[in-house]
Amino acid sequence: MKRLLSRQITVVVLLLLCGAILVVSCAPNADEPIISPQLGTLLALREAGEEVAALPTPTPVLLATLSDEQIYAGLPDDIMAALASADPASAESISLNAGCIGCHKLDLNEQSTGPYWYHMGDTAVSRVPGESPALYLYKSIVDPSAYIVPGYQDGLMPKTFGETLTTQQLADLIAFLLAQRQ
Ligand code: HEC
Repeated sequence: MKRLLSRQITVVVLLLLCGAILVVSCAPNADEPIISPQLGTLLALREAGEEVAALPTPTPVLLATLSDEQIYAGLPDDIMAALASADPASAESISLNAGCIGCHKLDLNEQSTGPYWYHMGDTAVSRVPGESPALYLYKSIVDPSAYIVPGYQDGLMPKTFGETLTTQQLADLIAFLLAQRQ
């Protein structure tokens, strides 16, 4: 009986020891940068022999700092032409009728199933590197699967707006979304 008890105690002690070793070996090193979107850059700099702890978070580029050319680059000609006479005010009734506002909100205090449209114009600048904000918005509406906003799922937003909305309606929506900026 006594031997059995001491054996059990030995087993418990061994288990505790293993646990302690595991915890110590997994403890994070406070001097290591955490995994971040800049990890690739950090590792490259390190390999090049540079001393780097962490990089500052890049400040987002605001729409207001871009030229018209940079804002509208790559848009299809018909959308570009329609934008010249776009009426952002009519976008409100379009997004009501098309159901956009069932999923998208401008007001951060409202519950929203899709990404908020708050400052959408500024957000659109850096969503897809190399893609102009107007082109990004156009593609987001007619081809929502082309880029999936982090934290959201593909397949929720209807993929038919390219057919159900007219060129002018698409242009009005793009003009309206671009106007949501700082
Ligand atoms: C049933 C819900 C739903 C409806 C209706 C809907 N969307 Fe979306 N939308 C989403 C979701 C979810 C995403 C994020 C997933 C993705 O990127 O495809 C999204 C993404 C977007 C984005 C990109 C947002 C960002 O932050 O980059 C834009 C722009 C957009 N939608 C515009 C529209 C417009 C305009 C309409 C109406 C014509 C509309 N959506 C209708 C759900 C919806």
